[in-house]
Amino acid sequence: MSRRLRYDIPGEDWRRSHSSIVESGIEGMFAPELEPPLSLVVEIGFCRGEFLMDMARRHPKRAFLGVEISFKRVLKMARRFALTDLENVRLVEADGEGVVASLLGDATVEEFWINFPDPWPKARHAGRRIVQSRFVSQMASRLVDGGVVQIASDDAIYASHIDEILSGEPLLRNAFDAPFLPRVPGRLETDYESAWRAEGRPLHFFCYERLPRSSLEPSRTLPASGVAVPPARLRPRGALAGGGSLGTAQTVCPRGLVCCLGLSRVLSGHPRV
Ligand SMILES: C[S@@+](CC[C@H](N)C(=O)[O-])C[C@H]1O[C@@H](n2cnc3c(N)ncnc32)[C@H](O)[C@@H]1O
Repeated sequence: MSRRLRYDIPGEDWRRSHSSIVESGIEGMFAPELEPPLSLVVEIGFCRGEFLMDMARRHPKRAFLGVEISFKRVLKMARRFALTDLENVRLVEADGEGVVASLLGDATVEEFWINFPDPWPKARHAGRRIVQSRFVSQMASRLVDGGVVQIASDDAIYASHIDEILSGEPLLRNAFDAPFLPRVPGRLETDYESAWRAEGRPLHFFCYERLPRSSLEPSRTLPASGVAVPPARLRPRGALAGGGSLGTAQTVCPRGLVCCLGLSRVLSGHPRV
């Protein structure tokens, strides 16, 4: 029997429109629960969200921004988070690349996590992979000095592509002694990771660190984010991609969780979906 997606989340409605986020900025999204300066951690493609939730529990003073392109996943996570007492998580339904480019400012992020991104194994689909030079260089510009980007993959071909892209980024340096590690002690396991390990697949973990700005020539730093994506194609509040509605049930999350539904319509515009 197929399970129906539940849209009803009782409680106060914490969803925000794209324009209000642009106005308040990332710090405004976390106020008043967390005060600036934020120790900001961004997970892109959180899917079932167990990794994001574990990190948020372990570090209640840090700010966790979960970005996921799937509306269903965001909604499910919003419902799960609403049942916890966590105050340090915000979810955005959007394309990760759009969020990095348009919502995050220069030198604002301490950690980026991308766990087991879709490998797009067919050669003709390689352009759809999220890890590309432009995206990595944009993440590097958003990192604080010493901040890290952590990427994991179970796919050997994608891992070699990731290795090439990360090692070619001049704003980053490898934090490991090898191109990647097959296991990182103390690292939380995602659902995908547990499944791949059970199958005996070789895994690849990358960790690259942002070089201090003082060590670079001025021309190597990218300009700060303009945070200027027009909200013209934003879905009306409550409207779903398929034309349905979130209904009148007020939402999503007590205790400060903000679930920004509708951003992907504004920010994506490329074929990765
Ligand atoms: C293979 S799953 C990995 C899930 C999870 N990170 C894990 O390790 O268990 C990839 C996830 O990334 C999401 N995703 C794919 N492209 C994305 C994008 N451009 N921006 C944000 N999320 C994306 C998918 O919807 C999916 O939930």
